[in-house]
Amino acid sequence: MHILVTGGAGFIGGHLAESFVEAAHDVTTVDILEPFYDLGLKEHNIDVARQRATETDGSYEFIEGSTTNKELVDEIVEDIDIIYHQAAQAGVRASVENPTKVTEYNVNGSQTILEAARKHDVTRVVNASSSSVYGKPEYLPYDESHPNEPVSPYGASKLAVEHYMRVYNEVYGLPTVSLRYFTVYGPRMRPNMAISNFVSRCMRGKSPEVYGDGTQTRDFTYIADIVDANHSLLTDDSADGETMNIGSSDNIDITTLAEVVRDEIDPTLNIEYTEARDGDAEHTHADISKATELIGYEPSREIREGVGEFIEWYEDNREWYEPLVVSS
Ligand SMILES: NC(=O)c1ccc[n+]([C@@H]2O[C@H](COP(=O)([O-])OP(=O)(O)OC[C@H]3O[C@@H](n4cnc5c(N)ncnc54)[C@H](O)[C@@H]3O)[C@@H](O)[C@H]2O)c1
Repeated sequence: MHILVTGGAGFIGGHLAESFVEAAHDVTTVDILEPFYDLGLKEHNIDVARQRATETDGSYEFIEGSTTNKELVDEIVEDIDIIYHQAAQAGVRASVENPTKVTEYNVNGSQTILEAARKHDVTRVVNASSSSVYGKPEYLPYDESHPNEPVSPYGASKLAVEHYMRVYNEVYGLPTVSLRYFTVYGPRMRPNMAISNFVSRCMRGKSPEVYGDGTQTRDFTYIADIVDANHSLLTDDSADGETMNIGSSDNIDITTLAEVVRDEIDPTLNIEYTEARDGDAEHTHADISKATELIGYEPSREIREGVGEFIEWYEDNREWYEPLVVSS
């Protein structure tokens, strides 16, 4: 299959591209190489997928460009069977600082992808959505019928895109699926996220720094589970037109997470608290029964287990990864 991964130089897109190449598919990625964090991490992601293509029957092509560029997108999508749409300005805080960019990249860029997909009869568009579409919890865990009240421009943009995905399915018959990822972590993860921050600080003998009072809770999803959920949709059409939570169904408060990391790396460190950040959700917790029912999704790791694996990976890759995380 010829697969397009948008945002393919990013954390999740990089893993998806690599895994599809490993499964002997032909992969094209498009990414604007936004310097939201150290570009060395994105270059590494591209190199890994490119290297996999030399070891397998798959192929890999990287195109630098924007999903908002209609001509470019039209040209790329012409030969594509299925699109995994990951390109977005990620990050709640970045969206609070620059909401206009979020609308341009996340909403307009997605619509450009949908138009090209419709024109060229793509088999399916799988859209990376987010738990940020829920915003204020009325009850937990969130199921997909929970009300949507995003509390950041980022969450609003992801919700708008979900609606476009559903509408293109209903109005034009284009098969689309939105996956609401719950905070994703694992090897090569983005800097400036709780887990990468805590691990990186503790490794350097610094106290983990918690934003706010640490009572916020999160459902963290291991990257391998995100990859598996996306792979199921290569051939399975049972979720077309649907939106599903993809989380771990486990959750943890941020102070406990900081303690887990600290105890694993250096139990002598204290936990430090600093100001809460605008736009951060108070709690996230996924009810994953819809994804289990539709595509057989089963998360493979509880948070403590996954964090332990990430710490091991960090130790093995510290030499190249740490400078990129610290400089971001
Ligand atoms: N990481 C998470 O915890 C998480 C949680 C929920 C949803 N998501 C969603 O998953 C997707 C991937 O997130 P990630 O963590 O890999 O982020 P990331 O920032 O590592 O990757 C996103 C990539 O998209 C690229 N990009 C942004 N705008 C673009 C545009 N207009 N054209 C082309 N490329 C563009 C960026 O350069 C970047 O490389 C995003 O859609 C994000 O909203 C991520």
